[in-house]
Amino acid sequence: MAQAASTDAFVAFERVQKSYDGETLVVKDLNLSMPKGEFLTMLGPSGSGKTTCLMMLAGFETATYGEIKLDGTSINNIPPHKRGIGMVFQNYALFPHMSIAENLSFPLEVRGMSKSDREKKIKRALDMVQMGAFGGRRPAQLSGGQQQRVALARALVFEPELVLMDEPLGALDKQLRETLQFEITKLAHDLGITVVYVTHDQTEALTMSDRVAVFDDGRIQQLAPPDELYEKPQNSFVAQFIGENNTLQGVVEEINGNSCVVKLDSGDIIDAVPVNVSKKGERTKVSIRPERVEFNKERLKEDAHLLKATVKEFVYMGDIFRTRLSVAGNDDFVIKTRNAPDQRRLRPGEELEIGWLQEDCRALDA
Ligand SMILES: Nc1ncnc2c1ncn2[C@@H]1O[C@H](COP(=O)(O)OP(=O)(O)OP(=O)(O)O)[C@@H](O)[C@H]1O
Ligand SMILES: [Mg+2]
Repeated sequence: MAQAASTDAFVAFERVQKSYDGETLVVKDLNLSMPKGEFLTMLGPSGSGKTTCLMMLAGFETATYGEIKLDGTSINNIPPHKRGIGMVFQNYALFPHMSIAENLSFPLEVRGMSKSDREKKIKRALDMVQMGAFGGRRPAQLSGGQQQRVALARALVFEPELVLMDEPLGALDKQLRETLQFEITKLAHDLGITVVYVTHDQTEALTMSDRVAVFDDGRIQQLAPPDELYEKPQNSFVAQFIGENNTLQGVVEEINGNSCVVKLDSGDIIDAVPVNVSKKGERTKVSIRPERVEFNKERLKEDAHLLKATVKEFVYMGDIFRTRLSVAGNDDFVIKTRNAPDQRRLRPGEELEIGWLQEDCRALDA
């Protein structure tokens, strides 16, 4: 849920809306407040408004309504180059005709820094991203990952307090992405920089961030630390969007405080946590993570409701086994089990009973 901006926030969006054409809102009532030093990621499907939010914060787009504040001061009327914000974008081209050192020198010259000060800062920034030996080269003489490192150094060289990154690792291969993910978070924490990071990649969002804002349709659907987002999704969109998730549809039969009984469309009865359902008779989608499903009854409570399941497919994935089941009319019900010495490998066609702890099953909006 979007949280109200507090006055000591370093970055704050207050009731921000954006329309490009004067008709449709692509950002709808955005409220977000970040403390200094936070690493916040905006995650969401294409077109959900992430880049638009970054552009408004950077000053390249204006908000149609509402206010954006930096360190308590409204920045609506401050031009981009006066906001002291560093930026790294996906494929953000380095100036091709300049050397690496000249690329880094540019933001410092704009700020009127002397030559000797510039040289010190450039050296420090390039060393930080392990590119100290490459100052004399042109961008075309570097690999993609090296160029992205230089782009990062250029965003950091003038020591901004706030850095915005829009899919900075999108073009890189998996291994390089993972190395740079680690380097970026370490640099940000070591330097105490506040970061707003945008990605499509949920693993990246979960592993790098202090908090993640999940966007859909111009709104923040949930804003929470990674573990809370994964384990306590507040609605069906977030449950489906973050991680793998099993969904079963039904109707709320009974609600008692922190637990509810759901009658599935198949007729089966299960226990769940009522998250955003409020009354008997309401339709719901219940959500269970694949790793929280049990078929070893000893690990379940004695009175737990069980469901009949038929194994459709078994996939050996090395560290885990991923098994697809047919459960209560859903043929895409996935369970994941750890590859341990005593773990049973299920066989297609096999029938079994599965269950889960009531607290792992969440009744969400239908
Ligand atoms: N300059 C523009 N003029 C008109 N419409 C725009 C402009 N930029 C973006 N939009 C529209 O605003 C909506 C949000 O776009 P935005 O670029 O913020 O999405 P995004 O979440 O960054 O998506 P992606 O993950 O694909 O980068 C989209 O419907 C897009 O078509
Ligand atoms: Mg974008």
